[in-house]
Amino acid sequence: MIDPIWSAGMGSIRTAMVTGASSGIGEEFARALAARGCDLVLVARREDRLKGLAARLAEAYGTRAEVLAADLAAPGPLAAAEARLADPDRPTCW
Ligand SMILES: NC(=O)c1ccc[n+]([C@@H]2O[C@H](COP(=O)([O-])OP(=O)(O)OC[C@H]3O[C@@H](n4cnc5c(N)ncnc54)[C@H](OP(=O)(O)O)[C@@H]3O)[C@@H](O)[C@H]2O)c1
Repeated sequence: MIDPIWSAGMGSIRTAMVTGASSGIGEEFARALAARGCDLVLVARREDRLKGLAARLAEAYGTRAEVLAADLAAPGPLAAAEARLADPDRPTCW
């Protein structure tokens, strides 16, 4: 069966950036992607919560999760997140 997440345009890219991953719907989306074997770049301002989630997903699913603590309302951190997303050596979808 084709996983609907992968068939929705993610192609062969197996790493997804999830913004707002420190709580709520973003955290749940990160968990759902991890359960499907997806590696993650977790983005939000609260680094402690992102690190805790990354550790739990590594334990539960073997997920490799990068933590990118960033206030996306600020130009500098937003540019850092955009640069990570555009890095050709580490292809990532969002
Ligand atoms: N929950 C639902 O069922 C649902 C359904 C439909 C639509 N929505 C919409 O989805 C959005 C999220 O809802 P939620 O319930 O998941 O809210 P939430 O629990 O408050 O989560 C918001 C997330 O966004 C992050 N965030 C907020 N400001 C940020 C900033 N300046 N830079 C980076 N990250 C930031 C927060 O992390 P930090 O505070 O750590 O930065 C947090 O991870 C809302 O717009 C809501 O209206 C939610």
